[in-house]
Amino acid sequence: MQSFPYRDGELYCEDVPVAKLAEQYGTPLWVYSKSFILGQLKQIQTAFAEVDPVICYSVKANSTLGILKVVRDAGCSFDVVSGGELYRVRAAGGDTTKVVFAGVGKTDEEIRFALENDILMFDVESEQELDAIADVAGSLGKVGRVALRLNPDIDAKTHAKTTTGKKGNKFGMDIERFRELAAKVLKDKRLALKGIHMHLGSPILTTDPYAAAGQKAIEVVEGLRRDGHDINWINLGGGFGISYRGNEGLPASAYADVIVPAVREAKCRLALEPGRFVVGNSCVLISRVVFSKREGGKLFVIQDGGMNDLIRPAMYDSFHRVWPVKPAVPMPENVEDAIDGCEKTDVVGPVCESSDYFAKDRFLPPMKRGDLFATFSAGAYGTAMSSNYNTRPRGTEILVDGTNVTVIRRRETYADLIAHEITD
Ligand code: LLP
Repeated sequence: MQSFPYRDGELYCEDVPVAKLAEQYGTPLWVYSKSFILGQLKQIQTAFAEVDPVICYSVKANSTLGILKVVRDAGCSFDVVSGGELYRVRAAGGDTTKVVFAGVGKTDEEIRFALENDILMFDVESEQELDAIADVAGSLGKVGRVALRLNPDIDAKTHAKTTTGKKGNKFGMDIERFRELAAKVLKDKRLALKGIHMHLGSPILTTDPYAAAGQKAIEVVEGLRRDGHDINWINLGGGFGISYRGNEGLPASAYADVIVPAVREAKCRLALEPGRFVVGNSCVLISRVVFSKREGGKLFVIQDGGMNDLIRPAMYDSFHRVWPVKPAVPMPENVEDAIDGCEKTDVVGPVCESSDYFAKDRFLPPMKRGDLFATFSAGAYGTAMSSNYNTRPRGTEILVDGTNVTVIRRRETYADLIAHEITD
């Protein structure tokens, strides 16, 4: 991983030894590389430059303010799915007039908050939502700018729990309803139809689904224009895949190669909502080995990071690279290989659930109590999905920029964990 090299037998984040950070800030510890995030954003900006896209970083992937600020400073906007995320964008100094707001269950309060902040557009997922936006906009004397979210019925071949663009998912609407609602918008002065939105799933490691979505977008846009709509936005959502195992991720230019021609042909502006691509590989989660034990013919390494910190393996059987911070054996290219000096190991956490694991049956070097351990690709849907399950405080988050180290979220204390509860 480019921003997390092993130098002289130990893991670095940019120019800082990770072990030093763990000594100072404790574990579990999230360590982010700023230059990695900026590099990923630049990659997207460059690949799509020809159509001057609005890149709306998907806040749900990682909503820590220190990360949002890096994204904002790089000139990007945001995709939000709740009033809380919009609040975060404001707190990070983001420009709300370029924000897009998706999600199947926006409340009237959230719609009002978004209209008051003059967001670029709502990605509308149902007729009732459209009606609610019209009503709230009317009561505020505003016009609600909307894109209708099409369910394109494209199989993006993602995990069953993260596929969104197939018929039968709760997201978006089919093409017939799309046309009906577009006609409805035309008659309503409180609404303006600005575009079409599609999000196909996450993570997507081929370009075919985007090529198909691009063609579908051209068709729909042309049809809407014939019906008298002044439509000029195509929003193709997020979903760009990344390398969790090796080099399976595609460069942004591969996606651009199939998306840009469609956007040009449709004579539209392009919005994108990348999340994972921007932050996924920007972070390692550092934990410390508490114990190890052999039971039932298996070696378990129990470390202090758990499923409350990183739930992806438990929830989606996700694969994350894992390796010691100061390994006895260098990390191989293919971490699934059997390697001399390594033994098949289950890396588990302290949470009282059998699904609390980070890696299963992995060949790992020997580890003893107190050793530091890295779980890679933890930047997307890591802290954002973390919880206090088992009343475990969430760890510190650190942003590294060269040799500079900034704490962007301090570790929670036990007092933080009961702060909102009423006992008498
Ligand atoms: N736009 C919309 C409408 C979305 O629903 C999502 C993700 C994105 C953009 C950003 O997708 P990305 O570029 O990050 O792939 N928790 C799961 C992923 C859930 C994705 C939900 N929607 C995981 O850890 O893999």
